[in-house]
Amino acid sequence: MNILILGGGGREHALAWAIRQNPKCDRLIVAPGNAGIAEIARCADIAITDGAAVVAFCEEHAIDLVVIGPEAPLAAGVADVLRAARISVFGPSRAAAMLEASKAFTKEVCDACGAPTAAWARFTDAGAARDHVARVGAPIVVKADGLAAGKGVTVAMTEGEALAAVDAAFGGAFGAAGAEVVIEEFMEGEEASFFILVDGQNCLPIGTAQDHKRVGEGDTGPNTGGMGAYSPAPVLTPEIQREVMARIVQPTVDEMARRGTPFQGVLYAGLMIRDGQARLVEYNVRFGDPECQVLMMRLGGQVLDLIHACAEGRLAEVSVNWADDHALTVVLAADGYPGDYAKGSVIGGLEGLPEDSTSMMFHAGTAERGGRIVAAGGRVLSATGRGAALAEARARAYALAEAVDWPEGFYRRDIGWRAL
Ligand code: AMP
Ligand code: GLY
Repeated sequence: MNILILGGGGREHALAWAIRQNPKCDRLIVAPGNAGIAEIARCADIAITDGAAVVAFCEEHAIDLVVIGPEAPLAAGVADVLRAARISVFGPSRAAAMLEASKAFTKEVCDACGAPTAAWARFTDAGAARDHVARVGAPIVVKADGLAAGKGVTVAMTEGEALAAVDAAFGGAFGAAGAEVVIEEFMEGEEASFFILVDGQNCLPIGTAQDHKRVGEGDTGPNTGGMGAYSPAPVLTPEIQREVMARIVQPTVDEMARRGTPFQGVLYAGLMIRDGQARLVEYNVRFGDPECQVLMMRLGGQVLDLIHACAEGRLAEVSVNWADDHALTVVLAADGYPGDYAKGSVIGGLEGLPEDSTSMMFHAGTAERGGRIVAAGGRVLSATGRGAALAEARARAYALAEAVDWPEGFYRRDIGWRAL
């Protein structure tokens, strides 16, 4: 099978690494890829949000399966264009990607299928939204409806913060994404993520994870794309997973099919768990980054069979071969991230690191310049370990991180603290 992966972060390096281990993988191309991916696959320069360009590339290179990593090509309808050209693709249509692209859409779907989530209301003008905040009071959550690069959500502990968030959204801080605002009940509890493959109809859970969104140790400071993650998430017990499948995920999948916009790809359910009950915080329609790194570390080469079956509507025929293991990943980021940071600093110490099924240094924002690896993004490396126990996985991940010689970078030393 010839496979094309779209994306170039740690998530896509992990996908490429796992897929490459499956003997059914003949040729593997990643667009745009990064310096780490270039060691295991061919990297290609394609405009990945341009469906016609992706189809032309697939035809030229006899691609049998396209795996879409990030949300941007999904929201741009690249999966639709590929399907219309009869190319197998792992990733939802533009219509089904609305589960990530619009918070109000997801809330409507939840209401229609009875999935438990926070109480909510939607607004298209500041006055009505401000009145609502004044009526309900704080704590309260204010969200730009659309994709805002993870910056559109304000968990407001005071009414003043909530009003400021309303004004920011309607003042254009998030562009078109903030033209509509969703205001939600604040949910208390512990957050965890649940990943489910969906082929339009059938669902196959493939793992749980918890991430660390804040930049600083002790989960302090500004939000980031994620500074580390581990899998499984102990808070998502098998019993809660069964409840979530029955009350949230399968009803959502059925509702999407009923609307004529079936969901196909990976559904990433963000959940809030309290007193053994889970409610939906949000859906993403792709793997998380860095959650994908820990999931791939645990699944290994079988992920190609699972993804392929998902893309072809054959999910009912496959199952996951579970190992009783744990994985943990530590993100190395450039100084200044998630604010301004410099690019181009040289990263040493990467040669000779262990690269096996228990230790992998996944690359995110890296590039190769004159034979050296340099930083080319905010999140740069994802040091990932696997072991029979979480402490063992953590020791392996930190051994990799500590081997890196990169004075211009940093990482958190407490990834996994909640589970350990
Ligand atoms: P979202 O983009 O919807 O995932 O929101 C980003 C983060 O804000 C989530 O991961 C939660 O930590 C938090 N959050 C979102 N909605 C709520 C809510 N209704 N109650 C409490 N926290 C929330
Ligand atoms: N790590 C969170 C995300 O990928 O959305």
